[in-house]
Amino acid sequence: MTAAQLLDHLRTVVGAAHVLTEGDLSAWELDWRKRVRGRALAVVRPASTEQVAQVVRACVAARVAIVPQGGNTGMVVGSTPDASGTQVVLSLTRMQQIRKFDPANLTVTVEAGCVLQTLQEACEQAGFLFPLSLAAEGSCTIGGNLGTNAGGTQVVRYGNTRELCLGLEVVTAQGEIWSGLAGLRKDNTGYDLRHLFIGSEGTLGVITAATLKLYPLPVSTLTAYAAVPSLEAAVQLLGLAHAHLHAGLTGFEVMGQFALGLVVKHFAHMRVPFQASSPYCVVLENSDHHSEAHGRTQFEALLEAAMEAGCVSDAVVAESTAQARQLWHIRESIPLAQAQEGLNIKHDISIAVSHIPAFVAETDAALQQAFPGVRMVNYGHLGDGNLHYNVQAPANTDAEVFLQTQEDAINALVYAQVDRYDGSISAEHGIGSLKREKLLAHKSPVALDLMRSIKRALDPHNLMNPGRVIDCSSASGSAPTTHPNPTTQVLPHHDHPY
Ligand code: FAD
Ligand code: MLT
Ligand code: ZN
Repeated sequence: MTAAQLLDHLRTVVGAAHVLTEGDLSAWELDWRKRVRGRALAVVRPASTEQVAQVVRACVAARVAIVPQGGNTGMVVGSTPDASGTQVVLSLTRMQQIRKFDPANLTVTVEAGCVLQTLQEACEQAGFLFPLSLAAEGSCTIGGNLGTNAGGTQVVRYGNTRELCLGLEVVTAQGEIWSGLAGLRKDNTGYDLRHLFIGSEGTLGVITAATLKLYPLPVSTLTAYAAVPSLEAAVQLLGLAHAHLHAGLTGFEVMGQFALGLVVKHFAHMRVPFQASSPYCVVLENSDHHSEAHGRTQFEALLEAAMEAGCVSDAVVAESTAQARQLWHIRESIPLAQAQEGLNIKHDISIAVSHIPAFVAETDAALQQAFPGVRMVNYGHLGDGNLHYNVQAPANTDAEVFLQTQEDAINALVYAQVDRYDGSISAEHGIGSLKREKLLAHKSPVALDLMRSIKRALDPHNLMNPGRVIDCSSASGSAPTTHPNPTTQVLPHHDHPY
C-alpha cells in the first residue's frame, strides 16, 4: 500500500476533515518546549475506539509508524513525529467522553482524549475528587497522563497516575481492542496488563479509555506557604507535616530562591512572599474531612511546632480559596518563568527524601566548581522526593553557546550523582527521545533486556512510537522496520524558548 492509498483509506475511516496533511501542523509537530520539530505524514483524529483500531490496522498493513498524542504537553519529546514525514500522529483529542460514573464503586470511566481539568471539574460536580493535578491540566489529557504515568502536586497523598488507575481499554499494536475497564480493586488473574501500558509512552499500544479512582471531596482544603532556612529544614517540616496532618497532607512542594526570583522577574504583578529573605519556600496543602476550623487548627499547630523546631522561619495560611490559588500559582509559574528566562537544562530526578539535602549540597558544589557561575533553578515535589533540579547558564553569558558546549558534561555530572544516591533520572516526565540514550547508561542491562523483550513481544514491527523510550529498530538487533527512526530535526537554538 502506498502512502497515498493509506491516507485515502484513513479518510474513509475517520472522515477527510480529520486526516490533516496540509497547513500549519505545529500544534502536533512541535514539542511543548519547542526543542524539536518533526514532520508527520498526517495527523489522524479518530472519534471512537473502533476507529482507532481501524487506523492502527491500516498503518500496520502499510508498515507506517504511529505516534499517539494527547495534549502534546510532554517534556521529553515523546509525542511529536520524527522528521521523516512518514509517521502518522494519532491524536486522541476527539475522544473526550466521560462514559460512566459509578459512585458506589468510587470510579469514573473516561476516554483518553478528555482534558484533565475537564475531568476534575466533572468529578467535582458529581461530588467526588479526582486528585491528579499538574500545571498543564488545562491542556494535557488522560491518555497522556497514563502514557507518561504523570505525577504532579498531589502524589504525596494519592500517588502517580498509575495508582489512580483501575483499568484500561487499549488498542494493541496489532489493532485489536483489549477492554479491561471493569474497575476491580482486586484481580489476581495473571499478569496485570494495565501496568505495562501505563508509563509506556505510546510504545506498546494506544490507550483509548480508562477506569479511574475517585475519592470523597474534602470538606476543606487549606494552603500554607512557609519560608524555611534550608533544605534540611524543609525535610524536617515534611516529617512534622506527616505526623500532624496524616492523610490530610495532600501537597508539599519546595521552591528555591533563584527559581522564585525568576517568577518575580518575569511576572512582576505576582506577589511572592519571603522570596528575598529565604533560601527555600514550601507550599503545603491540608485537606480536611471534618471542617475548615478543624483543618485550620491542625495546620496552625503544625506551623507552631515547626517554628519551635526552627524549621520554619515565617509562614502564611491562605484565608480564602482565591488566596490559596494565588499561592499555588506562584509554584506553578516557575516552569513558565524559566521558559521566559531562556535556555536551560532540565533534570527531573528522584532521590530518597532523606538524602535530598546532601545530594543538593554536594551536586551544587560540584557544579559550581566545574562550571563557575551556573544558576540552579531548583524546585519540585519534595513530598515525593522529586526535584526539578534545573541548570541555567551563568549570568551575562551566551546561553546558547553554554548549552552547546556544556550540556552533556552537566548532565553527566548530575546523573552520576543521581546514580551515587540510587535515584532515578526521570521521576515523572518519562524518557521520550530526549533521555533515551541516558536510559541506556543508567538502567541495568538486565532491566533493559526485559524492556526490549516486552517491546518486541507486543509490537513486533516496531511501529508504536518507535525510537522512544527503548530502541528496538533493526540497528539495535530487533526485527527490521521500514522506518528505522530517522534523526529528528533539532531546532536552531534561537528558536528554543525553554
Ligand atoms: P502528550 O504530550 O501528548 O504525550 C505524552 C506521551 O504519552 C507521549 O509519549 C505519547 O505518545 C503518549 N501518549 C499520549 N496519549 C496516549 C494514549 N492515548 N495512549 C498511549 N500513549 C499516549 N508532568 C508531570 O508528571 N508532573 C507535573 O507536575 C507536570 N507539570 C507540567 C507543567 C507544565 C507547564 C507542562 C507544560 C508540562 C507538565 N508536565 C508534568 C508534563 C506533561 O504535562 C505530562 O507528561 C502529561 O501527562 C502529558 O499529557 P499529554 O496529554 O499532553 O500527553
Ligand atoms: C512541574 O512540576 O512544574 C513540572 O513537572 C514541569 C516542569 O518541571 O517544567
Ligand atoms: Zn513536576
